[in-house]
Formats: sequence, C-alpha cells, structure tokens
Amino acid sequence: MSGFTFSSTGTTCDGVDPAAIAAAEGTPLYVYSAALIVARYRALDAALGAHPHRVHYALKANSTLGLVRLLRSAGSAADANSGGEIAVALRAGVHPRDIVFTGVGKTVAELEYAVSIGVGAINAESGGELDRIDRIATARGVRVRVALRINPGVEADSHPGIVTGGPGHKFGVPIEEAGAVCRAAAGRKGLDLVGVHAHVGSQLTTLDAVAATASTITRFAQELRADGVALEHVDLGGGLGISYDGNPALAVTDYARTLVDAVAPTGLTLLVEPGRWIVGPAGVLVAAVVDVKPQRNGRYFVVLDAGMSELMRPALYGAKHRLERLTVRSGSDVTCDVVGPICETTDVIRLGQSMPLPEVGDLLLVRDAGAYGSAMASNYNRRALPPEVLVEGGAWRVIRRRQTVDDLLACES
Ligand code: LLP
Repeated sequence: MSGFTFSSTGTTCDGVDPAAIAAAEGTPLYVYSAALIVARYRALDAALGAHPHRVHYALKANSTLGLVRLLRSAGSAADANSGGEIAVALRAGVHPRDIVFTGVGKTVAELEYAVSIGVGAINAESGGELDRIDRIATARGVRVRVALRINPGVEADSHPGIVTGGPGHKFGVPIEEAGAVCRAAAGRKGLDLVGVHAHVGSQLTTLDAVAATASTITRFAQELRADGVALEHVDLGGGLGISYDGNPALAVTDYARTLVDAVAPTGLTLLVEPGRWIVGPAGVLVAAVVDVKPQRNGRYFVVLDAGMSELMRPALYGAKHRLERLTVRSGSDVTCDVVGPICETTDVIRLGQSMPLPEVGDLLLVRDAGAYGSAMASNYNRRALPPEVLVEGGAWRVIRRRQTVDDLLACES
C-alpha cells in the first residue's frame, strides 16, 4: 500500500517530505496520505466480498471535511455520532440515506434533524429513544427507519475506556430485553425497524468478541424475522484495531470473514462502521522540539510543541505511538521522556524513547495518529488547533488551516 515510508535516509508521505510541509506550515501539524486512506477503505470493502454490505466510515475517528469528502468519493457511507457529524457528512456530499446516526445520548433536537433529512437509519439506544423518535415521526406524518442498538454482554479485549458491549456499559439495550423492545417498536406507526446494531469496542485485536457479537446479534435478528419483523440489515459496528507497535495486528481479511460468515446465511445486508482502521495509519503528527532538559535519573525530558491538546491518546489511554525522527542526529542513544507543553503531568507523547539526544528545533513525527488525533484535539491552554494537510497525487494541500487567536475568541464577547 502507499502511504508513509520511514527510513534513516528520509521519511516520505507518498513521495512528499513531511519536513518540507512543516517548513511551510509550521508545527504542530497533521499530515495524511489520501492514497493510503482510499487503499484501506477499498481493502476493507474488498475483504467483505460479494455478500451485500456497506461500509459506513465512523466520522468520530476523524471528521475533517477533506477526509470525509475523500472517503465519500471512494464510495463510503457514513456513521455519525452527533448532529455536528451529520452536518459534516452532508457537507461532504454524503447522501442522507447513506448515514447511520448512532450515539448514546441523542437530544430531541438531533433526532428532529436526523428525521428531517431522512437518514438511512437511526441506531436507537433505548426503548425511550424509540418512543421519542416515534413521537417526532407521528407529528410529521412520516415513518422513520430505525435499528436497535443491542448490548450483547460481550467483554471485548481492549483498553477498558473503549470497550462498550459488556454488562456494565451504558451502550444499547441488554440482549435479554431487546426482544420486547423490538416487538414494541415494530407495532409503532412512526417506526420502521430495519436493522439490529451492536458495537462492542474499539481497537479490537482478537476475534473472540467479534465472533461472539456477530453470532449473538445475527441469531437475534433471525428470531425477530421469525416473528414477522421485516429486517433489512445487521450493523456490526466498528472496532477493528491497528498495530501501534509494528507487530502484526488482526488481519482485515480474518475480521471480515468472521462477520460475513455469521451474517451470510441470513441474506441480510451487513453494515460496518470502521473508523480507526481506515484512517489511523494514514495520519501522522509532526512536532518540533522546544526544550531539552536532563532529569535527576539520567533520562532527559524532550518537550515538544504538541501535547495532549493535539494528541490526547497517550494521556487518556496510556497509548504508545511510535516516534520517528525527521531531523537526523548522530550520537549514542539516551532515554528520553517525550512530553508536551501543557501544564499537566499526564501530558506525555511517549515515555522512555531511546534516541540520540535531539536539539531544540528538531522535528519528530508521531505515527498512526490519523484516528482520534485531530478529532479529539482541544483548545486547552488556549492552544490553537493545528493545521491538517492532505497529501494527494504527489502534492499537498491544507484541508484545515491553523486556528488564529481571532478564531479562538470568535464566540466570546
Ligand atoms: N461505531 C460506534 C457506535 C462507535 O462507538 C465507534 C467508536 C465506532 C463505530 C468506530 O470504532 P473504530 O472502528 O474506530 O474502532 N478515542 C478512542 C476510541 C473511541 C472509540 C469510540 N467509538 C481512542 O482514541 O482509542
């Protein structure tokens, strides 16, 4: 696949040097490979094979307009988690019918919006939410396409902060109650129950939870159909993990085969909602060293101009992203704690990185930052959101400019 090459002789993104982009746009800065994003979308789509299916890219992983537009042109549908993400999907040219609207706490205003544009399905989280959708639909004299999000009670093997299908998790309707909720929904004037949905976690690297969820949800769908509910699809969410450390991760083909094997006998269309797998490896964060200082213990702090405000994952989940040096230095390796500029001790990028001691102004690159990087960035410490650059066909362009102080204050009086 195209994308990034990392070597001691130079790092490139589809033939373009990220350091040259940084020289023009400054740091910190996100850089994405358009070719790799499209290649990964196509690889997942191809892995799902001939069985009727649709890939709904999960905007929450990265909803920068230029990327959503790119994926839409490649043929992707969308999974939106808020009114804001629906608006971005529409702005990117996604047809309303190609949007599924998920989310554990949809407001009535968001539901009204989704109903007014006619999304492909609202993935409802509770009986109460189905009631609210039914009321909105009846008031408008329409029928709304809904799927019920089911919590299968499956504990996936991932970081505890991002597993969502276990007994104690807030997401969906417990499988034990789902039958009654669906039967009630099927009798409503304003609802068309077209699907069942589950998403049991993110950064999944083993098949156990994927297989258990696929078979539980598919069996449930068959029971509903036997009761006369005219289902159209099974939506098995997102979650396929990537390798952050370079060791082989769960293969997309094995993941896809597991889903298709479960759903194919039903003939129902399979929907998936991948985010991280498509964009994660296709984006990097480029940052500059702003200070280097020795610690008491022989290690060094290397302070970057990027931290938890640009990439929250290390601070929030203890995530370990690989670092590459764009500025080559000789000398023997020392142990560096690479940290951000924010006034929080949790503001780290990578602890215990072994490398020749960098100097102020050197450029470092954080790998696999395309998913949940810019999307989770904040203005904490009144820091401006960094620019985002898309490399496409050997050229690059800014798809989101760096915020200015005026942007930061635009909503304040
Ligand atoms: N569908 C639903 C209903 C979801 O909640 C999610 C992710 C996805 C799809 C996409 O999952 P993916 O394919 O990207 O794993 N901020 C965390 C990840 C949170 C995931 C939230 N839900 C991180 O940086 O690891």
